[in-house]
Amino acid sequence: MRRILTGLSVAAAIAFSASVVQAEPKAEVMHWWTSGGEAAAVKVLKDEFAANGGTWTDMAVAGGGGDAAKTTLKARVLAGNPPTAFQMKGPSIQEWFEEGVLADIDDVAKANGWDKALPPMIAAQMKCDGKYCAAPVNIHRVNWIWANPAVMKKAGVSMPTTWDEFNAAADKLKAAGITPLAHGGQSWQDATVFETVVLGFGADFYKKALVDLDEKALTSDTMIKVFDQMRKMRGYVDANFSGRDWNLATAMVMKGEAAFQIMGDWAKGEFTAAGKKPDVDYLCAPTPGSGYLYNVDSFAMFKVKGEDKVKGQKLLAKLIMGPKFQEVFNLNKGSIPVRTDVSLAKFDACALKSNADLKAADKAGTLLPSYAHGMAMRGAISGAITDVVTKHFNSDMSSADAVKQLAAAVKNAM
Ligand code: BGC
Repeated sequence: MRRILTGLSVAAAIAFSASVVQAEPKAEVMHWWTSGGEAAAVKVLKDEFAANGGTWTDMAVAGGGGDAAKTTLKARVLAGNPPTAFQMKGPSIQEWFEEGVLADIDDVAKANGWDKALPPMIAAQMKCDGKYCAAPVNIHRVNWIWANPAVMKKAGVSMPTTWDEFNAAADKLKAAGITPLAHGGQSWQDATVFETVVLGFGADFYKKALVDLDEKALTSDTMIKVFDQMRKMRGYVDANFSGRDWNLATAMVMKGEAAFQIMGDWAKGEFTAAGKKPDVDYLCAPTPGSGYLYNVDSFAMFKVKGEDKVKGQKLLAKLIMGPKFQEVFNLNKGSIPVRTDVSLAKFDACALKSNADLKAADKAGTLLPSYAHGMAMRGAISGAITDVVTKHFNSDMSSADAVKQLAAAVKNAM
């Protein structure tokens, strides 16, 4: 009997060591990239992961802006079953780190020279207590207008550069029977439009209101004007806007059913996936005002058990920061590479404009984090702001009341 047991344990030990030696990289990757352009982009990563011997388990949770994915993540972490990697960005990386659940990928970063390849500000956001815990993929610009040139021509309007010009163009389009603004009534899309309106009243005002959360700015006459403009915007959307997904709004512009969409350059990923060309089939232009609202996608790694998963995380991190991957992924995604050493030779005019404006904004001090896309503040505060923005957009709340509620919401959430 004893011999059998000994024999068994030797066999088990051999099997165990064999499994250790053979541990293949595995990753369950949770993200919200489900639209045409997004899916094409994430496929680049999936394919590269597989080509390097990895097994990818896809956990796509549909819902633009990631609200649904973030809710699912919370439930998974609470249940003690986090994914290997999550599409996480901005201050929420620090929030999750404080919960003690993020893994350290500093060895991958050191071995692959991340500190040299990344802008210092972005490198800092990817670090938890000085060590890398997340890998960045791209830089998306949020403050863009996507437009249909044929429809604009038909109505005799040109690209607006101020909100007054925008309103004048929108009134003309409306009179010509064209929906001026393709919009999906989901709170994160309302927030996306809102932050571009805030920026239109000055980069300095944006910083005071949505980065510093300065009470004076939040309750100012300028903020009243912001809500006045949001009320105008509400009049420029079609009757079926409620609940519409952002990519369907992009499709409205593509098909000439609407003239403009205000959306980050993941919208360009939709045009690209449909074979459309900038300056021919569609136009891209910054929303009114000067400045650049940035949104950096990244993947944070969770503490997981099992050598296969740890290997999976390290492989994933290495691939995400690979120069070739950053080129191909971003050509599909609509964004620009976050690595500073990737050639933009294959990128289109909108991407080149994004890159040039990013550099100019950095010099001018007008490079600003997107509040609507989780780059500017902790989730509780941005959520409180978005609640007010959405409530105002979907009711007849006055601008004065919205401003009062905004300041109170921020105070409560701090
Ligand atoms: C993400 C993008 C994504 C978009 C729409 C943003 O918050 O940063 O990567 O394409 O939401 O889902």
